[in-house]
Amino acid sequence: MNTACVILAAGLGKRMNSSLPKVLHKICGMPMLQHVINAAQRLRPEKNIVVVGQHSERIKKEIPEARLFFVRQEEPKGTGDALMSAASALRGFNGTVLVLNGDTPLITVKTLKKFIACSAKNEDALSILSFIAEDPSAYGRILRDNSGKALGIAEDKDASYEQRQIREVNSGFYAISSACMELLKKIRLNKAKGEYYLTDLLGIAADRNLKTGVYCIGSEAELMGVNNRRDLFRAECLMQAKIINNLVDKGVNFIDTASVYIQPEVKIGQDTTIYPNVYLEGHTKIGSGCIIYPNVRIMDSIIGDNAAIKDSSVIEDSEVRHKAQIGPFAHIRPGSLIGSAAKIGNFVEIKKTVIGDRAKASHLSYIGDASVGKDVNIGAGTITCNYDGQKKHKTVISDKVFIGSDTQLIAPVKIGRGAYVGAGSTITRDVPPEALAISRVRQENIEGWAIKKQALGKGSKALVQKIEKGEKVK
Ligand code: UD1
Ligand code: CA
Repeated sequence: MNTACVILAAGLGKRMNSSLPKVLHKICGMPMLQHVINAAQRLRPEKNIVVVGQHSERIKKEIPEARLFFVRQEEPKGTGDALMSAASALRGFNGTVLVLNGDTPLITVKTLKKFIACSAKNEDALSILSFIAEDPSAYGRILRDNSGKALGIAEDKDASYEQRQIREVNSGFYAISSACMELLKKIRLNKAKGEYYLTDLLGIAADRNLKTGVYCIGSEAELMGVNNRRDLFRAECLMQAKIINNLVDKGVNFIDTASVYIQPEVKIGQDTTIYPNVYLEGHTKIGSGCIIYPNVRIMDSIIGDNAAIKDSSVIEDSEVRHKAQIGPFAHIRPGSLIGSAAKIGNFVEIKKTVIGDRAKASHLSYIGDASVGKDVNIGAGTITCNYDGQKKHKTVISDKVFIGSDTQLIAPVKIGRGAYVGAGSTITRDVPPEALAISRVRQENIEGWAIKKQALGKGSKALVQKIEKGEKVK
């Protein structure tokens, strides 16, 4: 059966009290509308149409999906009018039009498929997906006769006291046969609200004895609509709980699930432990047997098996190989690769750098635009001076190099295999393999200097003269 999706996203979303269009508010780091689009795309529809309104340009910019077809509803005259705006884009389409609310981000493709299957099995002209709401006041109520047949939908504002007691509500997902789309024209303006209600289609179809069905097959946890910021927060919590429960079932160990934030695309291997206050974002993939200590944030990165990411570290767009140790207080910036069993310690910043297997930079360093070989030891306070004010330059540190503490490597520069750099050096030229480079001033000890200083302070000429003659003073 052919399916075309129409996602309604042209409403103003006034109840959000925000300059951002409602459907662009994020749930788990992704705009609400994107969640709905993703669910729709997974149905592989013949066409995927998004109805947008006065914020169309902003929405198109934020949702750069090549396979989408955007249509514009000039004025927000209700959900019925919004669907009408998609009519021209649906011309010639023959099959089922699946209508999705753009503000229902928790929807799953599983429920959508079940709904479409019910609709197809009963050969409905119009099907509606309903659910039981704990507090139904934000939704249209499903009106059924004594036999259970659905006759219409009453919006909260228009409902009688008795109707308001009904907890079965409209989710805003509809399956409409392309033939039934003609009936959209029969929807009358709701004068009180100045809108054309798509919900009226049920009564219109039922009056014409067309086959209709309202299927109460989903839960509030996935069909709740987001109209205000409280709903947004609730949706965020529900999606977080789902993501984390899913990971727990797959063998991930959490110390405190309530304080952890994990985005939907994140993958974590078995027996990895996640401490409190950890943020895992984007397309992050963490291996098995890892430990992610408190206050860590990892974005779009790959962490190998048995790695340890210690407290308060940030890793962005990078790869950390197995058994490596990062932190505490380390910052791995985009484009870095940390080799297996390598160690990046406290207050070390790594940027666009490859660190070889077993290499160590244990304390207080900046390594940027560099390539560091295997088994290298980088002493405390080492800095790659990669920027000359205009351009970035590369530092190459070959395998088995030892860099003494407090060294500055003025890039571009290369340290040959197995070479040593003495502590406190400023390296401006390449260092040959196996050499020792040392660039600090030779040390001089001035005997008795401190006593002379004291004597001068006290104004004792005799004492100063004694010192100058080289006589011993106490
Ligand atoms: C709507 C339904 C209600 C249902 C609820 C489910 C109507 C009249 N009411 O109410 O029965 O229980 O959804 O969440 O349909 N939109 C447009 N153009 C418009 C108006 C809205 O594209 O002119 C879009 C919005 O962007 C939104 C969706 O349609 O994504 C629903 O609109 P909204 O105003 O949130 O409707 P509700 O009051 O929630
Ligand atoms: Ca809504």
